[in-house]
Amino acid sequence: MRVVLFTGKGGVGKTTTAAATAVQAARAGIKTLVMSTDAAHSLGDALGVALVTARDDPDPVVEIEPGLSALQLSPTHSVRRSWRVVQDYLLSVFKGLGIDPVVAEELTELPGADELVALLELRAQVESGPWDLVIVDCAPTAETLRLLALPEALAWHLERLIPAQRGFLRALRPAAAAATGLPLPGVQVLETLRQWHEALLEIQSILAAETTSVRLVLTPERVVIAESRRTLTSLRLFGLAVDQVVVNRVFPDAGTPDVHSVEANQRSTQAAWLAGWNEAQRRGLSEVRHSFEPLPIVVAPYLSHEPVGPDALEALARARIGEVGDVLTTAPAQGMTVRPDAGGYLLTLPLPLVTAAEVDLKRRDDELLVSVADHRRVLSLPSALRRCVVTGAVVRDATLRVRFVPDEKLWPVQGRESVAGR
Ligand SMILES: Nc1ncnc2c1ncn2[C@@H]1O[C@H](COP(=O)(O)OP(=O)(O)O)[C@@H](O)[C@H]1O
Ligand SMILES: [Mg+2]
Repeated sequence: MRVVLFTGKGGVGKTTTAAATAVQAARAGIKTLVMSTDAAHSLGDALGVALVTARDDPDPVVEIEPGLSALQLSPTHSVRRSWRVVQDYLLSVFKGLGIDPVVAEELTELPGADELVALLELRAQVESGPWDLVIVDCAPTAETLRLLALPEALAWHLERLIPAQRGFLRALRPAAAAATGLPLPGVQVLETLRQWHEALLEIQSILAAETTSVRLVLTPERVVIAESRRTLTSLRLFGLAVDQVVVNRVFPDAGTPDVHSVEANQRSTQAAWLAGWNEAQRRGLSEVRHSFEPLPIVVAPYLSHEPVGPDALEALARARIGEVGDVLTTAPAQGMTVRPDAGGYLLTLPLPLVTAAEVDLKRRDDELLVSVADHRRVLSLPSALRRCVVTGAVVRDATLRVRFVPDEKLWPVQGRESVAGR
């Protein structure tokens, strides 16, 4: 099943672009679901239908027309309910430590619960929905990035919590409880953590799948482009394939050379205003090409009206220029690679639009922590690299390259082992 996520700065036209792509695909015979994870309920507005139900009702999948269905997620409480088991345990620990209950309650809140609801629903639809294509209208960039980073981050914590707790319990249960006076987690707590961990790993594999890609929606304005450049880097940091940049709300004249003479501009302030914007957009478009090529760049016109309803959305989709292939076409995988190189290994991670100075690397046991600006990714090192040391890192051709060589101190018998292995 193909999954396409649309993200971008607030208000650039993510929902409209996602819905237009969905209508176009459905009318081309592709069985499509479009779902929104944005708490601002505008997917229904764009499609011209009511998608939101009363609180706590299960979110319904609404058929818009044959082949096209839509789903608006409302923050339900099922995720919080499931977390409650873990939270109650943590609260009892904090109580034993004499921490203020109000503070404890806040400390034990599940981070990103609403985002998790969205990811869990995406997983459910990918696993059991009848769709060929799932289009996800995401919340604005910052929230989306947090959402995309969440499975890896949470899974990382849970991975460390679960085995430690198991061993701890087996060895120390009666003694530890007596010694510390703190309650130990029960079977239900551990079982909940295990289920969470499993769900997160599945979500991660959906996001990393070759059939999943992200499309970046932006408008040809400098502030928006600057944010989108950072977003592209962060998306790649999290291993997501970006397969298209959609420039939305482009004035009809911005794509062509300036046709207004200076004299004509002076004749009316309105014309001058328009010419000013055309010129700004023209510069914006060239900055977009400069920043994002060779990614396909699709240009969508600024319509004279808000595109509402399937017909208007399809018309917008048809008016776009620069589309390559159809929506089912998948982008080539662009993940982390490791290959032998000059007696050691070379790890590469595509990271467009960054300089070496912006990247920070840290080694922590079996992991490599890669930070760009305020986003951090935890890369689990393949076993071949675990006994190696990092000898250098560079950013070249939009790719981070990290060199590893076997650590003689850690592995003094290496030579002998390779002989013995023959
Ligand atoms: N190409 C376009 N031409 C005209 N109006 C547009 C276009 N794209 C979006 N809009 C309008 O702009 C507003 C914001 O779009 P929306 O898709 O809700 O943005 P986002 O989801 O990024 O917040 C909506 O009123 C929408 O109808
Ligand atoms: Mg929106």
